[in-house]
Amino acid sequence: MFPDRVLSGMRPTGKLHLGHYHGVLKNWVRLQSEHECLFMVADWHALTTAYDDVSVIEKSVWDMVIDWIAAGVDPAQATIFIQSRVPEHAELHLLLSMVTPLSWLERVPTYKDQIEKMSHKDLGTYGFLGYPLLQSADILLYRGNLVPVGEDQVPHVEITREIARRFNHVFGKEVGFEEKAEAAIKKIGGKKGKLYEDLRTRYQRDGDVEALEAARALLAETQNLSHGDRERLFGYLEGGGKMILPESQPLLTAASRMPGLDGNKMSKSYGNTISLREDADSVAKKIKQMPTDPARVRRTDPGDPDKCPVWQLHQVYSDDATKAWVVEGCKSAGIGCIQCKQPVIDGVLAEQAPMFERAQPYLEDPTLVKKIVADGCERARELARETMRDVREAMGLAYS
Ligand code: TRP
Ligand code: SF4
Repeated sequence: MFPDRVLSGMRPTGKLHLGHYHGVLKNWVRLQSEHECLFMVADWHALTTAYDDVSVIEKSVWDMVIDWIAAGVDPAQATIFIQSRVPEHAELHLLLSMVTPLSWLERVPTYKDQIEKMSHKDLGTYGFLGYPLLQSADILLYRGNLVPVGEDQVPHVEITREIARRFNHVFGKEVGFEEKAEAAIKKIGGKKGKLYEDLRTRYQRDGDVEALEAARALLAETQNLSHGDRERLFGYLEGGGKMILPESQPLLTAASRMPGLDGNKMSKSYGNTISLREDADSVAKKIKQMPTDPARVRRTDPGDPDKCPVWQLHQVYSDDATKAWVVEGCKSAGIGCIQCKQPVIDGVLAEQAPMFERAQPYLEDPTLVKKIVADGCERARELARETMRDVREAMGLAYS
């Protein structure tokens, strides 16, 4: 009933690294040619943990947008915008908070984890507890049903779905809903109206999901329905009220775990990253300093790739022939570790070359970035206004 729409975001907390690229950005780039996409700089989310040092946020905002473009996000295809420039995020967050049970927020796995991990910081704030709800508002404000994120963010997409359901359940009921829905079926009339009723019965009586899909497709192609009637009939299929906010789902990249320089997942907090636009010398130096299989003390000692973090990077950057060369050469001590690392260095540099190229014009003229973001915010506000009109109406706030 709502068109597919992709919404995702990142917090501006510093330079992006290759983990962001392989974990999330590659996915964004693929999606932008398949769906309408909105990519958001989550500056308010950054504040929830960086409130004691706000100085990094502003610089990171612009660096991050350049990193996105460097990675291949195309401002001509996707909308790039900043959360705090669309105040409707705050309004929706507040309105959703009216029906969000505290226990839902307290049991989000990232909540207690983060508080423990960042014990040097007081995260016993209202803002931090509300972090996932603000994220739900981000997604639902644009009726984003597809949310490409890293694995760690899946619980936040799940709570978003639960909140949308609850919202629809609580506020989607209107006086005389069933009568209005029945009247709308009559308006479709004829065979199609009958088919809708059959499919709805099959879904409700037998839980036949294919029937549900078929009924939705039927509504999507039915011309002579008003916006309100169409929404009612979508909601009536599942027995509830009007569907005001869609149910979102996470989209994960196939292999989203990018290994870092030490074999752990690449992450700023482990200090094992290569940044997206790191200069070539520094890339080479970091990879040359990577630890290898400790059994290879001397050049003549054989090793085992499975005990070596460099091997994990070969999985990302090397073709089959190179990988065979590594396994053979490592196990027989036929190659040295420095030799083995070279294809990885070359692979990273080759991946980064087009990124530097795409970033260049924006580094030379920062007003280009500001213009892109200003246009994106404009577009985002338009969509946000539409959703908020429906939300306010459903919550009985549409008086003037
Ligand atoms: N919480 C996300 C992160 O830490 C960032 C984010 C904020 C987000 N709002 C979002 C991601 C909406 C997806 C959708 O990376
Ligand atoms: Fe690791 Fe390659 Fe050295 Fe083997 S040869 S230990 S895989 S760096």
